[in-house]
Amino acid sequence: MSNPSVEFPNRLRLCHSPTPLLRIPRLSDRLGVDLWIKRDDANAGVEAGNKIRKLEFLLADALHNKCDTLVTCGGEQSNHCRATVILGARLGLKSIVYLRTEGVTHRPMSRGNAFLMGMAGAEIRWISPEQYQERTAIMEECAKVLKDAHALPYVIPEGGSNGLGSLGYVDAMREIRRQLDLGLAGGTPFDYLVHACGSGGTAAGCIVGAGHYNVAKLVRSYAVCNDQAYFETVIQRLTNEIKSLVPDLKEAAAYEIDDTSKGPRYGESSAEQQMFLVDLARNYGLFLDPVYTGKAMFGLTKSIANHSEMLGKRVLFIHTGGLPGLLAQGELLSHVV
Ligand SMILES: Cc1ncc(COP(=O)(O)O)c(C=O)c1O
Repeated sequence: MSNPSVEFPNRLRLCHSPTPLLRIPRLSDRLGVDLWIKRDDANAGVEAGNKIRKLEFLLADALHNKCDTLVTCGGEQSNHCRATVILGARLGLKSIVYLRTEGVTHRPMSRGNAFLMGMAGAEIRWISPEQYQERTAIMEECAKVLKDAHALPYVIPEGGSNGLGSLGYVDAMREIRRQLDLGLAGGTPFDYLVHACGSGGTAAGCIVGAGHYNVAKLVRSYAVCNDQAYFETVIQRLTNEIKSLVPDLKEAAAYEIDDTSKGPRYGESSAEQQMFLVDLARNYGLFLDPVYTGKAMFGLTKSIANHSEMLGKRVLFIHTGGLPGLLAQGELLSHVV
């Protein structure tokens, strides 16, 4: 057991934490591992998911700087943007979100995350995939225009993934360490911690936090976009940023990026992945989403099949949420249901 206490920057209390740490016995039997799930999909209401942990730190910083307008970006069904807009509305902050969309006519405002963002009063600005490449410059320009108009913008990068946001998952590891110390999940560190990786902040926070708090021996991040080399660079940058914010953090955990379960492309899943989602819902009452968590769990099953050394090991799956993204694809998935 190790639980060195370190000082974190200011944060808001937005999560419904500690989130449950549950064993999934029948799925454990099927996969041949001792499978536990950290239910971060249950860490709040409509704003739930992994982003809320990052936003506890980012929005504290926004309030500290007396900002009045949040500016952020993501895909057209961004869970991050949805959580930002809803929590912003709760705190009395306006939100401008840049959402990536394939075509001018394809603006599904009536579905999933986009619907919830609109309902919570976001100003949605649709941008093309090409413009999205320039998202940092676009958001900086937006902030400049807002400042010229005497507003006080706070720009949050894609996925809330900078060092400050990533601290949310360092803190999640502290929360799991406390649960282990209370005797949950047998009290000892997991062999593997696995999760879906999109913008890298959850991975960086888990890697640093799992090492510092002795929560897991290895973090395996299943990429849902980009590749292993890309995420190694991102994680290196983010772990450096985390350590400059909280210098007393001890050695990070070992990690691997698995980019073999991305499916056809970001946001789209293969027929096998779609059937897997339904299989989990039907046979275990476990709802995962087609963009993130479903691909990570699918990847985990492949890893276990390909690496016999994983058999019998203790595995912690972080359920990072994403239900609105599943609902947005209801029509598409109806043929497998
Ligand atoms: C449901 C869900 N899971 C996982 C992730 C990946 O987290 P990160 O962006 O920190 O890599 C996201 C990111 O958008 C998400 O919405």
